[in-house]
Amino acid sequence: MARDILKTLKTEHDELRKLFAEMEDTTDRAKKTRGELLADIEAGLVPHAKWEELVFYPAFRERADREGQKAHAEAVQEHRAVELTVLPDLKTKPTDSVEFAGSAKVLGEFVDHHASEEEKTMFKMARKLFSAEELADFDEQYEAWKGSPQAAREFANAMKQPSPVPVG
Ligand SMILES: [Fe+2]
Ligand SMILES: [Fe+2]
Repeated sequence: MARDILKTLKTEHDELRKLFAEMEDTTDRAKKTRGELLADIEAGLVPHAKWEELVFYPAFRERADREGQKAHAEAVQEHRAVELTVLPDLKTKPTDSVEFAGSAKVLGEFVDHHASEEEKTMFKMARKLFSAEELADFDEQYEAWKGSPQAAREFANAMKQPSPVPVG
């Protein structure tokens, strides 16, 4: 089967949705599980969002019409809200608190909303704006990028922001 960046990104959205559903099922006593789930969520979310910001979104914007450019601007703003507020706020909450549970739910709802909008608007448009070959190329680039020093730096930076809640 041909590689396809849009399928890869959609699969990653679904993996994140699954992790948030698991998080929602935890109790305030599940300190260790919550810490592990948060680490899995960040490991899935951060490289995905960074690569979209660095490669996919700019390429999309260049070819998009006004409606597409608006969808792009909206997506960028949602990334900023998660990166600067929603995720850092969650990380200040102790994992065994009800505040953590509430904040994790907000992050999950935010990510689901954002991912659904990408799937319904940007990805749908991208199918028309890019050839199958280009979508396959993006998919290869994304896989290579995930193992790159730049990806590692982006991840380390994202992890640095608020002091992480100790896990254990
Ligand atoms: Fe995104
Ligand atoms: Fe995405």
